[in-house]
Amino acid sequence: MKKFLIVLTAAMALVSCAPPALQVGIVLPTKDEERWIQDQTRFQDALKTAGITAQVLFSEKDSAKEKANVETLLTKGIKVLVLCPVDSASAAASADEANKAGVKVVAYDRLITGTKNVDFYVTFDSFSVGAAWGTFLSGQAKGKGNNLYLYAGAATDNNAFIFFEGAWSVLQPKIADGTFKIVNSDAAVKLQAKAKLTRDEEASIIGQVTTNWNPNDAKSKAEANLTKATAAQKGTAFVLSPNDQTARAIADAFAADKEVTKAYTTGQDADKASIQYIIDGKQSMTVLKDTRTLVADAIKTALTFVKGDTPVQTKTYNNGVAEIPAKPSDVVSVTQDNVKAAIVDSGYYAATEFTNLK
Ligand code: BGC
Repeated sequence: MKKFLIVLTAAMALVSCAPPALQVGIVLPTKDEERWIQDQTRFQDALKTAGITAQVLFSEKDSAKEKANVETLLTKGIKVLVLCPVDSASAAASADEANKAGVKVVAYDRLITGTKNVDFYVTFDSFSVGAAWGTFLSGQAKGKGNNLYLYAGAATDNNAFIFFEGAWSVLQPKIADGTFKIVNSDAAVKLQAKAKLTRDEEASIIGQVTTNWNPNDAKSKAEANLTKATAAQKGTAFVLSPNDQTARAIADAFAADKEVTKAYTTGQDADKASIQYIIDGKQSMTVLKDTRTLVADAIKTALTFVKGDTPVQTKTYNNGVAEIPAKPSDVVSVTQDNVKAAIVDSGYYAATEFTNLK
């Protein structure tokens, strides 16, 4: 009996020392962009108090690496997978594998397409991001025939389509009434009379003006466009640039062209480098997508699934085969006028990160 008790106590001690099982696996697309490092940092902050065990892995912009990451997390016994896909369509295989293992799948920021095995989509209102770009550019334009340059995200990212759709919803009427003249996409010119584009029509434009979410591609595309453009197509330029990292590259290319007197540029993510560009007047605006909110939503959703409950949805997104329940969060337009209030006073970043902030 005594021996049995000793063995039992030792076993209990072992159990209490063992690390708690991993409940949630989080897979993010790349460490090469400030955006996803922000998400990782905010996850680490929030997980300290969340009462949940989780691990974050990065996929290095490689769908095969992403799949391997998911498989690693599945072998660790996770209950919920939070996945931001490198490629929205390729990630369906990982979602299916997780579902087969009885794991709930939460698409994070980018939708996973082509599978019914996505249990929830935690996201920002990406249509509003694009609409905010359109509203900003339209607000700056005076008279008719203003030069409009279009750029987009990666065609493998479902968000690139939603951003573009939002932008087109505001810009198309302004193209139709002659306020803007598209300079760098004949695919867009061909479709300029159409208020609502099909996915294939959008793809034909995005295929032409994609940056692949890559600043080098963005820079060379902008340079090639400017080389081809006439002096009359430069002057004041209105530039739909799709995120901060590519916006800075595009803004630099336009600034380097002597025939461009002013370029209005858009962005998103509130990268620190872009906030400094906005303060310095080198990028015109960004859209703040407060990653603290997205992370909190993801953790709340995961906890709900761990408890066996259903998260609250406010909208659904069609991913090609199913309506995925979702909860999109609001976004904030940031220009020089409100940069201090939106970015510093809101506690998103410290004032010490920037110079010349008034
Ligand atoms: C995200 C953006 C990000 C972009 C490039 C999009 O899916 O919503 O915030 O800048 O991907 O990584």
